[in-house]
Amino acid sequence: MKNIVLIGMPGSGKTTFGRALSRELNRPFVDADDYLEEREGRTISSFFAESEKAFRDAEERTIRELADRQGIVISTGGGVVKRTANVENLRRNGLILLIDRPVDDIVNDVEVESRPLLKDGPQKVFDLYRERRKAYRDSADIIIDNRGTPEEVLGQMLEAIH
Ligand code: S3P
Repeated sequence: MKNIVLIGMPGSGKTTFGRALSRELNRPFVDADDYLEEREGRTISSFFAESEKAFRDAEERTIRELADRQGIVISTGGGVVKRTANVENLRRNGLILLIDRPVDDIVNDVEVESRPLLKDGPQKVFDLYRERRKAYRDSADIIIDNRGTPEEVLGQMLEAIH
């Protein structure tokens, strides 16, 4: 059975909707960032303190492993699309859903403390979005518009999957 993979900007709702979707579909849920920390025995912040490359290498290892699973719901880190190997691995046995949330909503909402790349403030969020917009779209099988109520967004996702 194919995995369901959620991609999108930090703060777009990947983890929230990933959990909701896993409950609805009765499938296991894995947050790739949590899984990475567990598997590597290190926090994401500590990887970034070393270098972004150190983090991206660990992310690639993690994604390769998760992509081999069957029938799980995976919420990915926002930068997963930066490496095409990740997208190729995830696509092999997965349906990729982009959670598309207006960047203004993200800026108003997101908790920057726990997100190393966003520590530099809101401008960084806009920059990241501009940088990644195309990669998100090109990587997605389905684009989910996250502007409605949570119920509407979940409804869109369920409809898209079936
Ligand atoms: C990152 C997003 C984070 C995490 C890491 C890098 C990014 O995940 O993987 O800090 O490059 O956008 P979230 O999207 O869950 O915040």
